[in-house]
Amino acid sequence: MLVILGLFSAFLSILYLTAPSIRKFFAGGVCTTSVQIPGKVVVITGANTGIGKETARELARRGARVYIACRDVLKGESAASDIRADTKNSQVFVRKLDLSDTKSIRAFAERFLAEEKKLHILINNAGVMVCPYSKTTDGFETHFGVNHLGHFLLTYLLLGRLKESAPSRVVNLSSVAHFGGKIRFHDLQGEKCYYRVFAYCHSKLANILFTRELAKRLQGTGVTAYVVHPGIVMSEIVRHSILLCLLWRLFSPFFKSTRQGAQTSLHCALAEGLEPLSGKYFRDCKRTWVSPRARNKKTAERLWNVSCELLGIQWD
Ligand SMILES: NC(=O)c1ccc[n+]([C@@H]2O[C@H](COP(=O)([O-])OP(=O)(O)OC[C@H]3O[C@@H](n4cnc5c(N)ncnc54)[C@H](OP(=O)(O)O)[C@@H]3O)[C@@H](O)[C@H]2O)c1
Repeated sequence: MLVILGLFSAFLSILYLTAPSIRKFFAGGVCTTSVQIPGKVVVITGANTGIGKETARELARRGARVYIACRDVLKGESAASDIRADTKNSQVFVRKLDLSDTKSIRAFAERFLAEEKKLHILINNAGVMVCPYSKTTDGFETHFGVNHLGHFLLTYLLLGRLKESAPSRVVNLSSVAHFGGKIRFHDLQGEKCYYRVFAYCHSKLANILFTRELAKRLQGTGVTAYVVHPGIVMSEIVRHSILLCLLWRLFSPFFKSTRQGAQTSLHCALAEGLEPLSGKYFRDCKRTWVSPRARNKKTAERLWNVSCELLGIQWD
């Protein structure tokens, strides 16, 4: 028994000692383009922390005018002042956006459209994961409402400006968790059956189907769309689950940092010549495979139509 324990602790020690190299190995791709984007306008949701904040930082470093769209303006201001100080770019702004409330999304869009005549990059980054069952202000299940419908409505409201500013891009954050997802049209609000892990998976599948359908409908407009799995990243995403918080803490030496997690979003926002890959899914700065369900064109079309109905919009 003592020998087994000794071997196990030796194994753990070696694992943790080699953690920096393992982390480097799993760090994935790096956005290698050196393109600078002075004056380009970027909106990024949920950029007060995590992957979004690091994405915003790098875009600000490259000269963009960055709008941090977040639900907690104080947290947003703290992130913005950190980014401004770090990048010496004063053009980093904070605007209130709560994706769990369509009124807030409309108010954000109205204000943004009134103050900015251009929008070159929209990054739908914000997300919630494994929340206990709850509904948004408009009565949508929280994962579906925030991760999918909130960003669907935001994109719809800003699309005119993206088209006027073409070439422009939309980058949606999904996850490898979409492999466990299914669009349950008979129970989109999870009222009949709810498992929080699967609710997250379903919403991340919706992000991919939305991107595919968006890219199809935007052909020829100069606006392109991409969807991203950022990797397993040490962020606050697991805050709603004690078990996941513990696992994240335990395995933190092996996970990507938020800076590493931002690389694929940055690649999709910045890399030259990506236009022919509009609608595709990226991981580690490379196009990669999606689940069979994420390739289903009929589901993508149906989800689009149902999303429009739920939001009371017409988007042909
Ligand atoms: N971390 C990972 O391992 C991982 C893996 C795959 C995919 N992703 C995806 O990557 C994206 C970024 O996640 P992260 O890891 O950076 O997580 P995070 O650190 O928890 O950041 C999530 C951001 O979303 C914001 N947000 C949540 N609900 C919102 C709402 N109703 N309205 C507006 N903003 C809201 C949060 O704001 P508050 O700070 O105010 O809550 C926060 O700024 C998510 O879409 C996530 O699904 C992450």
